[in-house]
Amino acid sequence: MAQHLSGPARLDGQVALITGGAGGMGRAISAAFQVAGATVVATDRAEKEDLGAGIEYAQYDVTSRAETDKVIDAVMAKHGKVDILVLCAGTIARTPLADSTDEEWESILKVNVMGVVNPARKLFPLMCQNGFGKILAAGSIAAKNGGVASGPAYVSAKSAVHGMMRWIAKAGAPHGVYANTLAPGPVETAMWASVTGNAAPAANASVPLGRWGNAEDIAQAALFLCSPASNWITGTSLDISGGMWMD
Ligand SMILES: NC(=O)c1ccc[n+]([C@@H]2O[C@H](COP(=O)([O-])OP(=O)(O)OC[C@H]3O[C@@H](n4cnc5c(N)ncnc54)[C@H](O)[C@@H]3O)[C@@H](O)[C@H]2O)c1
Repeated sequence: MAQHLSGPARLDGQVALITGGAGGMGRAISAAFQVAGATVVATDRAEKEDLGAGIEYAQYDVTSRAETDKVIDAVMAKHGKVDILVLCAGTIARTPLADSTDEEWESILKVNVMGVVNPARKLFPLMCQNGFGKILAAGSIAAKNGGVASGPAYVSAKSAVHGMMRWIAKAGAPHGVYANTLAPGPVETAMWASVTGNAAPAANASVPLGRWGNAEDIAQAALFLCSPASNWITGTSLDISGGMWMD
């Protein structure tokens, strides 16, 4: 039966696990999900972070399958389920192709691809068993336009993430498991600052809406894609770029 919605998106009774939860987007998403009523477990490789009252925190490295499994087992033991998985852990590199090293490719692919594979591969079957799940990954406009300020390793890694979410969307749909990707343009976080330096350039004519994004823009889109408001959307890549990319 159709679910009729009124008022803002809510996540009451749901358990959400966020990777990259100490970063710009992950932190804003954790806060927004908590306000929407979810139990939030934020994770990051950064040391214990104060993310606000009531948000749980686990420090671990997403590139480790063993560490990922251990953290998720602990969340399952405590809460009995994970309804929502948001994948925000990521690192960027700008080196052009000819100068890029094996080490850089391995590092970028490991964090941005295996850091999505590890939590998704552990939780996908559990969500299928439970008959419900929403997985949302931070992809990038880079996967569509070849990169704003990123090198080929990052563009390749993010393209893999978009493809992986489509696979999960197809395989998960009969089991009530959704998978979508955000395709943000430049968002003012530590990552964007690391690319542009402390004096980040002002948004220029390449951004039709006239400004760079902020973490709250991303959090509200994430809330939509993880809430019942998007219950007929799976396998999509949501452009959230002030109009820099339109398809
Ligand atoms: N900021 C942008 O302009 C932008 C645009 C498009 C996509 N993205 C993507 O969005 C996501 C969030 O980016 P952000 O802007 O919030 O960046 P951020 O640097 O603020 O946050 C990224 C977080 O990932 C964590 N992390 C990195 N490697 C990890 C690992 N091995 N294990 C666990 N945690 C790890 C970092 O500690 C950091 O807290 C990333 O995947 C990024 O690639 C960012």
